[in-house]
Amino acid sequence: MCAYLWGSVLKVVILNNIYILISQQSIQQIQSRIDIVDIIGSYVKLKKRGTNYLGLCPFHNEKSPSFTVSPVKEIYKCFGCGKSGNSIGFLMEHEKLSYGETLRWLANKYNIELEETETSPEFKIQQQAADSLYIINNFAKDFFADTLFNTEEGRDVALSYLKQRGFREDIIRKFQLGFNSSSRDDFAKVAVAAQYNKEFLLKSGLVVQRDDRLMDNYRERIIFPIHNQSGKILGFGARIIKSNDKAPKYINTPENEIYVKSKILYGSYFARMAIDKADECLLVEGYTDVVSLHQAGIENVVASGGTSLTIDQLRLIKKYTNNLTIIYDGDNAGIKAALRGLDLALEESLNVKLVLIPDKEDPDSYLNKIGAGAFTEFIQVEKKDFILFQLEIALRDAGNDSTKKSVVVNQVAETISKINKTAEFTRRQDYIKQVSEILRIEESGLNALVNKFIRDKITKDENLTAKTEININAGESLTDKQPDEAFNLFNKDEIHEQALVRSLIEFGLKDWDEDQKVASWLFSQIEDNELDKMLDNKLLVAIIQQYKKWYNEDLEPTAKSFLYGEDQEMNKVIINIMEVNTDISPNWKKHYEGHIPTRAEYFREEVISTLNYLKIRKIKRLIAENEQDLQKATNPEDQLIYLQTQIHLKEMEIEITRQAGTVIYK
Ligand code: UTP
Ligand code: MN
Repeated sequence: MCAYLWGSVLKVVILNNIYILISQQSIQQIQSRIDIVDIIGSYVKLKKRGTNYLGLCPFHNEKSPSFTVSPVKEIYKCFGCGKSGNSIGFLMEHEKLSYGETLRWLANKYNIELEETETSPEFKIQQQAADSLYIINNFAKDFFADTLFNTEEGRDVALSYLKQRGFREDIIRKFQLGFNSSSRDDFAKVAVAAQYNKEFLLKSGLVVQRDDRLMDNYRERIIFPIHNQSGKILGFGARIIKSNDKAPKYINTPENEIYVKSKILYGSYFARMAIDKADECLLVEGYTDVVSLHQAGIENVVASGGTSLTIDQLRLIKKYTNNLTIIYDGDNAGIKAALRGLDLALEESLNVKLVLIPDKEDPDSYLNKIGAGAFTEFIQVEKKDFILFQLEIALRDAGNDSTKKSVVVNQVAETISKINKTAEFTRRQDYIKQVSEILRIEESGLNALVNKFIRDKITKDENLTAKTEININAGESLTDKQPDEAFNLFNKDEIHEQALVRSLIEFGLKDWDEDQKVASWLFSQIEDNELDKMLDNKLLVAIIQQYKKWYNEDLEPTAKSFLYGEDQEMNKVIINIMEVNTDISPNWKKHYEGHIPTRAEYFREEVISTLNYLKIRKIKRLIAENEQDLQKATNPEDQLIYLQTQIHLKEMEIEITRQAGTVIYK
C-alpha cells in the first residue's frame, strides 16, 4: 500500500502496519529544529571548509575526505561515492530506520511532541477496510483453530489427517492452523451473528454470496493463516482434505486491501530471526514444506506459494539476508519455476543457490522420508551455485552440437551480466573465470561478451527512460522506481527539464513583476494538461504539480518542503537538481576584477530561456507527428487538415524562436 499520499499535506507513516499520520505542523517543527551538521557530526568527524563541512564518507572507504555537508542547503553529498541526501535520509541510511521512525527519533531528540492527525477521506476508507479485514481474519483464525481442536469433525477429520502426516501439535498451534467443517455456513453464521460487516466478509474471501445467503468459501479444508512480518493475518490458504478432481487443492484469499499476493512470503513471520541468524533464507514452494521444515528445526524458511518469485518478494528477503537458497522439486516444472526467478534475483544482488529434491518428492515428503538429520546434511551437500547449475543443465542439453553450445555461451554471458552493480565487480569476474574454465573458452572473450550485454542493457534502459510513464496515482509509490531509471544525466533534454524545476523551486517565490511571483507567471505559461507533454520525466512533472498544489494552498514551497517528504526518490531528484558547490573559489575571486554575476541575479533570463527551449521542443515534436500523419493520410480532406495544422505549428515555432531571441528583459 502506498506509504506516501500524493498531494496530501499529511505524511502517512506505516509503523507495524498501523497507519499513523504525522501532521505537517509537526514535520515543519522538526524541520525547523534540524541541524544537519549536528546530526551528521555525531557520526562523522567534520571540518569547516568555506560555507561547507568536510569529512570522511561513512558510506565508502576513503583516505582523503570527499564527504561534504552543506548547512545552508541542509544536505550532504559525497563526491567520492555519489551518495547524497538530507538529515532524514542520512539517519534512515545510517541507522536503518524507516521514515516514520526517523521522524520519531528526531522528535525525541529535539523534545517535540508529535501531533498525529486525521487523514484524507480516501485514505481513511482504505485504512478502515484494512483494519476491518485484519479484525475479521483474526476472528476467523480463532474460529478455525477452535473447530480443529474442539469439535468432533475437526479432531476426527482434520487433526487426525495432520497427525497422520506427521505434524506435531505444538507446531500446528505455533502456525495457528485450523479447520472449517463440511457444513455450508458454519463460519458465515457465527460471523454474521458477531455483526461483522457483510461487505468486508465478502472482501476477505471467507464467505461467498449465494442468492440471499452468505456461505463459507472454505469447506472441509485445513486452514493455513498467512501472517505478515509482524504477525497479523493477511489471509488464508485452505487445503482440501479428501482430494477431489473437481475442487482445487488449495483455495487462497482473493486480492484485497491487505492480501497482495505478489508481496506475500508464507512463513516470513516465523522465519525472520532465524534468517537473520543464519544469514540465509531457504525458499520452498508450499505451506506444508514450511511447517514441516520448522518442525525439523530448520526455521529460516519461507514459501513463495507455488508461483515464480516477484521483485517484491525478493526485496523482502533482501531486508534480512543476501543469501537465498531455493529448494524446489527436481522435476521439470520445479526447475523451470526456479530459473524464472534467477535473473531478477541476480539483479537484486542476491547470491542464489539451488537444491533439487529427487525422486518426485517435495521438501516436506522427502524430509519425512529420510529424517531431519539426513535432510539437513542433504541441503548442505547438494547446494549448488545457481549460475553454474544453469550452465550444467544447458551444456547437457547441448551435447556436442556446436551451434547449441554457442547459444549456451551467450545465455550464460547474459545471466552473468545481470550482476552489474559496481560493488559486485569481483563476484562477476569470479564467475567469468569459473565459467570460461568450464566451457574451455578464453576468459577475455567471455569478459567482452558479458560487457556487451551490460552495455546493451544500459542503452535499452536509456531509451526506455525517455518514454517511461511513472504512474503517480495515489496507491503507487514513486519509491518503486530506481533513481538511475528515473534519471539520465547525459540527456540534454533532461538537463533542460531539470533546469525548469530548479528555477521554479529556487526562484518561484521571487517577484516576477509588480503583480505576480515567478511561480504564478510560470504556471500562467504552462497549461495543466500541457505539462506532461512538455516534460518527459514524469517525476519532474510530479514535482511541479506538487509545488503548484502547495503554492495554491498559500504554503510557500521551497526545496526543503520536498526534502523532508517521505519519498526518498523524489529527495534524490531534488538534491541532484540543486547545486551543492556553488561557492565561488576565493582564489578566483581574487583574480577577477569587478562583479561576478550570480544565477539569482539573472533568474528571469534563466526561466525564460529554459521555458522557451521546452516549448520549442514540444512544437518540434508536434510538427514531426503531424508530418507522419500527413504522409499516412489518404483522403484529400484529411490531408488538408494536416497541412493547415502544419502551417499553424510552423508559425508558432517561428514566433517562439523569435521571442527567445529578442525578448527584452527588465
Ligand atoms: P503443492 O501442490 O506442492 O502443495 O503446491 P503442498 O504445499 O506440497 O501441499 P501438500 O503437501 O500436498 O499438502 C505448492 C503450493 O502451491 C500453492 C500453495 O501455496 C501450495 O502450498 N497452490 C497449489 C495453490 O495456491 N493452489 C493449488 O491449487 C495448488
Ligand atoms: Mn507437499
